[in-house]
Amino acid sequence: MKVTVVGAGNVGATVANVVALKKFASEVVLIDIKEGVSEGKAMDMMQCSHALGFDTTVKGVTNDYAATANSDVIVVTSGLPRKPGMTREELVGVNAKIVKSVVEQALKHSPNAIFIIISNPMDAMTYLALKSTGLPRNRIIGMGGMLDSSRFRYYLSEALNKAGHPATPTDVDGMVIGGHNDKTMVPLVSIATLRGIPVTQLLSKDVLADVVQKTKVGGATLTGLLGTSAWYAPGASAATLVEAIALDSKKVIPCCVYLEGEYGEKELCVGVPIVLGKGGFEKVVDVKLEGEEKAKFEESVEAARAVNAQLAD
Ligand code: NAI
Repeated sequence: MKVTVVGAGNVGATVANVVALKKFASEVVLIDIKEGVSEGKAMDMMQCSHALGFDTTVKGVTNDYAATANSDVIVVTSGLPRKPGMTREELVGVNAKIVKSVVEQALKHSPNAIFIIISNPMDAMTYLALKSTGLPRNRIIGMGGMLDSSRFRYYLSEALNKAGHPATPTDVDGMVIGGHNDKTMVPLVSIATLRGIPVTQLLSKDVLADVVQKTKVGGATLTGLLGTSAWYAPGASAATLVEAIALDSKKVIPCCVYLEGEYGEKELCVGVPIVLGKGGFEKVVDVKLEGEEKAKFEESVEAARAVNAQLAD
């Protein structure tokens, strides 16, 4: 499998590195507009291959889309990250131009590729990529839910440990759907479990509300600490999506996809659980939403639509 990562910044370089470490790809091409950066990072990664035992070739290029030709998967991380105090949605104007030009150029050289969109505001950028390329919806997937779910599991494990229930993030099952948005993402408390036990039986309502709030602002918390947005978990999350496609694993992961009536919604891209395999997004998995979670998902959909509306401006 050949994977292209557009944008060799914090997230893009991490995606390339994790893909190489996971050993499922034959080739990773890292491309950026900044002269030398992709080349340097790719060379540095290749010089890990002996120590870490991977045979994936990582190649860095500047603006040379010919080198990305016939990629199976293209991960788009090009664009500005937010700074402390900013929302992801504030990036819409500047990143829309970058994402549109990048997907159009990349598609010319890799007409069969599956695109994974990371650049923020990710739900709107996924919608833009779909509309500007005209590709079928199974080939345009936004990454946000995998990351938000990892943060949810992390904060749940912290709270569970505090309450006397030993738990690592991998002991916990939990999913976040809706938009990749500080205010409206929807951590699904009702179906979160620790080794099969509902977390609602182990943690109080107040503690769960605190976990939900920490999850929602998980990205902003890191941006405050780092001065820019996070990269290890975003990069690992994106690489996990690429892996599910490469291995045709049929893994169910919450991702941002174009809805055509599923969850009662259509004509926008928003996070829902999907089956990922060699065809990209193979189907939407239905989780029955009720009460407050259903209302919150609907709120999240409206927030995503409002950002999409700005794309036309
Ligand atoms: P960064 O600033 O470290 O890297 C961005 C890279 O994109 C830079 O190297 C820049 O030169 C490059 N770039 C800009 N325009 C380009 C173009 N036309 N073609 C190719 N490369 C271009 O930023 P970072 O931290 O890697 O974040 C990248 C994006 O991912 C941001 O929009 C950020 O908000 C988003 N993000 C999304 C997450 C998600 O869960 N969906 C999580 C974390 C970040």
